[in-house]
Amino acid sequence: MLDLVVRAAHLVGVKGLVDVAVRGGTIVEIAPRIDATAIREIDAAGHLVAPPFVDPHFHMDATLSLGLPRLNQSGTLLEGIALWGELKPLLTPEAVMERALRYCDLAVSQGLLAIRSHVDVCDDALTATEALIEVRRRVAPYIDLQLVAFPQDGLFRSPTAEANLLRALDMGVDVVGGIPHFERTMQAGADSVRRLCEIAADRGLPVDLHCDESDDPMSRHIETLAAETMRLGLQGRVVGSHCTSMHSMDNYYASKLIPLIAEAALHIVPNPLINITLQGRSDTYPRRRGLTRVPELREAGVNVAFGQDCTMDPWYSLGSADMLEVAHMGIHAVPMTSRDAMAWAFNSVTLGGAAAMGLPDPTLRVGGPASLVVLQARDRIEAVRMRATRLFVVRNGRVLSETAPRLAQLSLPGRPAMLDPAAYAPIAED
Ligand code: FE2
Repeated sequence: MLDLVVRAAHLVGVKGLVDVAVRGGTIVEIAPRIDATAIREIDAAGHLVAPPFVDPHFHMDATLSLGLPRLNQSGTLLEGIALWGELKPLLTPEAVMERALRYCDLAVSQGLLAIRSHVDVCDDALTATEALIEVRRRVAPYIDLQLVAFPQDGLFRSPTAEANLLRALDMGVDVVGGIPHFERTMQAGADSVRRLCEIAADRGLPVDLHCDESDDPMSRHIETLAAETMRLGLQGRVVGSHCTSMHSMDNYYASKLIPLIAEAALHIVPNPLINITLQGRSDTYPRRRGLTRVPELREAGVNVAFGQDCTMDPWYSLGSADMLEVAHMGIHAVPMTSRDAMAWAFNSVTLGGAAAMGLPDPTLRVGGPASLVVLQARDRIEAVRMRATRLFVVRNGRVLSETAPRLAQLSLPGRPAMLDPAAYAPIAED
């Protein structure tokens, strides 16, 4: 007897529809027809069955705080940081945990089961850090939550940031964070990159820096990050997040920089929803998009994984824990509309995110964990196009969430009564 069987699933890279058999939390067989009975059967009905979504860049300490203590009037990054500074002294562990756990519920319903969240350590009480460590413990059965010690006000610019960051790491925070472009000078920013990479090397931890999140073409901390990664032997476990200044860099310099990023095996995490709304704010027209150079980085072999960054907080008043919305915006903001690129965008918010977080490859395969999402879409492009409904969300063989398919009841003479808006693509992906 199986624990679970998912019938008539479309798996990426697998010809025809298949059944997926699960026992003890593991996929034990994938075949066109599995006759064994199971405690639970899910009929995927030809829909796409994919690994769960991954968000490699988020701020769970600020999420769902929209309007506290006021709204961001200018919509800029800097007013967002100032607003967060006003909210920080008002935070309580209970309020941070309550918002974070509510967000995690939403994430599960969206099939988002791995999240890397930055947590601001520039509060001497480390209120949010303590609260999110507890949240990480509570959600561990269903979400891989990694925490990044993030000195929001600058490692050197904030007098107690370094001591607090080290304390947060001592408390069990997983990743070393930073914000070099927010230090007082370019030199201080470069020094912060060096210091943070040394801390990570000493402690055997990964690094994930907010890096060059500006429109300044001379903001080049990503270069220092690549060089320090190689100097300290950190290849493969370092992420440069945002990297929006690369959008505005001189093309010749970028042609030298991108191979350096590839050589250092950095992961690059753009955040399309935020980058498209926060960058180019000081431009008149033409107004820059601000997203980093995704196609060129991909072409160089760099792992590029889209992140969400924010949901209803001082920086972004929208968001819904939907990584397909993130991929959708990435496709538009880059722009990249070839079928290959759009299918890649789906992979970016599943496989790419897992690689950036240092998680095992989540590709669905025999012997791998039975963690999957059944989507109301036939393929990856349709899933992105429709921001497909997550019909079933499964983690280690256990169904965590079910959502009814999106269907419209029509009343039109001589026309079908029921409309599935996802079933309209004239061509299939593959
Ligand atoms: Fe961020």
